[in-house]
Amino acid sequence: MVDTQETFDFRSDTVTQPTAGMRAAMAQAKVGDDVFGDDPSVNELEERLADMLGKEAAVFVPSGTMSNQIGLRVHCSPGDEFICEAGCHIYNYEQGGYAQLSGLAVRTVEAPDAILRLEHISGLIRGGNDHLVRTRLVCLENTHNRGAGRIQPYDGVKEICDWAHKNGLLTHLDGARLFNATVATRIDAKRWAQHFDTVSICFSKGLGAPVGSALAGTREMIARARRHRKLFGGGMRQAGVIAAAALYAL
Ligand SMILES: Cc1ncc(COP(=O)(O)O)c(C=O)c1O
Repeated sequence: MVDTQETFDFRSDTVTQPTAGMRAAMAQAKVGDDVFGDDPSVNELEERLADMLGKEAAVFVPSGTMSNQIGLRVHCSPGDEFICEAGCHIYNYEQGGYAQLSGLAVRTVEAPDAILRLEHISGLIRGGNDHLVRTRLVCLENTHNRGAGRIQPYDGVKEICDWAHKNGLLTHLDGARLFNATVATRIDAKRWAQHFDTVSICFSKGLGAPVGSALAGTREMIARARRHRKLFGGGMRQAGVIAAAALYAL
């Protein structure tokens, strides 16, 4: 029964408070200096998430914004362009970090209901001419925040990613709330993730942890991501205290 005196805060899934069990896990966490790769809790979290997503490796970072920006940097070089839906977080809410931090251009596409489909983007690949930016990457967001939490249709995601790879493009998923999609569709995280070269996950959104996100991909991509994390100021020391909360959430 709901206590009528209790108030609920529905502004965002980011205003959650860590539970007593989560706080206990944080207090007991084994820690080390994660910049040296010495934090056992961070290492466990990265391995666990990589396994859940069917990827070779993952890197723990402070925020979803950093995780996305590192993902862009891993795939693109200055003068490259990526394609995304016009309402997505990467385009709207990260201060144009792709331009500020990595010198990238973006091609946005207005899609009905925030659902990007292949027909919207199949004519957008540029390149092969010195006047043009190079189209390099497609970014999708699932679930879609500004799209009222909409789930991208699985077959449409597969179709876009297959097309991207066939045409020499890379794919990144802003999966800040991917686990909401896995619960609602009963399609597991590995199946969603298999279509993407990198996947960003937030522990501080639907999962209720206080801090943290991670980027998963191939071992080689994540090795480069670790360098970019340091460059962007995201190298953390005894981060096991917060990784323990994320492990507890998973
Ligand atoms: C879809 C999506 N991606 C990325 C982020 C960024 O996460 P953070 O606030 O941890 O930087 C958010 C934040 O709400 C989001 O909704």
